Amino acid sequence: MALSKTQASALSLSLLFIISLCKSSQAGGIAIYWGQNGNEGTLADTCNTGNYKFVNIAFLSAFGNGQAPVLNLAGHCDPSTNGCTGLSAEIKACQAKNIEVLLSIGGGAGSYSLTSADDATQVADYLWNNFLGGQANSRPLGDAVLDGIDFDIEAGGGQFWDVLARSLSGHGTKLAAAPQCPFPDAHLDGAIKTGLFDYVWVQFYNNPPCQFANNNAANLLSAWNQWTSTEAKQVFLGLPAAPEAAPSGGFIPADILKLQVLPNINSSSKYGGVMLWSKYYDTGYSDSIKCCV
Ligand SMILES: *[C@@H]1O[C@H](CO)[C@@H](O)[C@H](O)[C@H]1NC(C)=O
Repeated sequence: MALSKTQASALSLSLLFIISLCKSSQAGGIAIYWGQNGNEGTLADTCNTGNYKFVNIAFLSAFGNGQAPVLNLAGHCDPSTNGCTGLSAEIKACQAKNIEVLLSIGGGAGSYSLTSADDATQVADYLWNNFLGGQANSRPLGDAVLDGIDFDIEAGGGQFWDVLARSLSGHGTKLAAAPQCPFPDAHLDGAIKTGLFDYVWVQFYNNPPCQFANNNAANLLSAWNQWTSTEAKQVFLGLPAAPEAAPSGGFIPADILKLQVLPNINSSSKYGGVMLWSKYYDTGYSDSIKCCV
């Protein structure tokens, strides 16, 4: 059958329409935390799964209040003897696969706080010189330049994190934050209000008031809607990668996530994808959900 000119142009118009539909659909990515369990595989293994778009190296667990910053990567390597600089090659290999690699500062068990605006700018300078585009004699992860800093601030008050964000952002680095789902976050609200955060992966676990529970996503969805109305550029659904990853709950079986949760959040213009805690626990979950994030 030969197509008339009108038929042919109608056909190419509909093809264009279909292509533009595909482009405008919100393709999300998976962010993973790596670094807190020596048995979770290497950073290179993590990036080689092909499942992740972002890797948060966790954690810079002590900083601020004038103390010497401490990197903690559990059993992976010992920063105190300069034993983690070899990670540079792996970081660069991840970045060559278009995976963004961030340093996560804070965590659930660290010793950190910011005591003044001056303290915050000193920490920003330290991060810039030791992990980002600046220079230092002894960089803990070697010469690789990380893509950004993730604020996993669960202690140390709520002041001056905005100053840290502004100082880092002045250098043009990416910023991420991992607040708890009860809104607003006790530590990160002021920082997120700066509007400088590219990725906000909200922890919808170990937080009974707003996590998925009893096969019910209502509390999660109402908190999600609060988070997507913040100044965050992109919001991610932060989940445990297995039930054991979150003793106080929040795990969502993959099929329920795909059928009942993602369709209710992925139409938001701020939807960025899913964050998982952590690589150690991710023994199949990201494989099951990557189709649909
Ligand atoms: C939202 O997620 C569902 C389930 O994974 C998927 O079928 C749908 O295409 C997604 N919508 C968008 C806009 O990405």
